[in-house]
Amino acid sequence: MKIKIVNNFFDKSDIDHICSLKLHKKIDDNGIAVYHNKISKSGEIKSELFDEDTIKSLHKKYHPIALNILEELSPKKKDLYEFTEFHLVETGKDFQFPIHDDIPNKLLSGVIYIKPEQNSGTNFFDTKKGDGKREIEWKVNKAVFFSREEKNTWHSYGGDGKSRRVTIVYNLMTNDIKKVFLAEKTNQFFGSFRAFINPYLFKYFKFTI
Ligand SMILES: [Fe+2]
Repeated sequence: MKIKIVNNFFDKSDIDHICSLKLHKKIDDNGIAVYHNKISKSGEIKSELFDEDTIKSLHKKYHPIALNILEELSPKKKDLYEFTEFHLVETGKDFQFPIHDDIPNKLLSGVIYIKPEQNSGTNFFDTKKGDGKREIEWKVNKAVFFSREEKNTWHSYGGDGKSRRVTIVYNLMTNDIKKVFLAEKTNQFFGSFRAFINPYLFKYFKFTI
């Protein structure tokens, strides 16, 4: 699988702004809080954390870069783009997310490490069981991008047992998963079933298929 790493992804003023945001959601050591922010191709915004001008300016500045990366990693998916997610994710020091391959709606999956100075990065694997682990090490303002493929782009992340971890999850998205499976040449029926069932399996049983 192809992984694209970009050091110093955000301009200093943007990362300073992100760091200054007040994170009001309470989390415990094993917990996660997601602040959802979205902007569509036509400019429609739904945002929990950023004000409208900020999300518009982030989108204007970084969208061409993200779209180029999508073209490099998965050219067939570029035309499926419909909206962008700019979520801020805060996780407790002991939080662990299990190995997964991402939902089909994500054309380009990105994470930008925000704070603190030291933590754990994103882990990639050859199999769902966790063989062939490679960690993309944590460094403030480092961005890690990949384009998901059904049962191939296995990855996980978690805290380092010492401090809370703050990232921006920057995804280029589509609603049309039928075209995603066509672009990937993977099985639409099984893939759609996994995408439907996995959130429930994770919520109630803490595993995914
Ligand atoms: Fe993921």
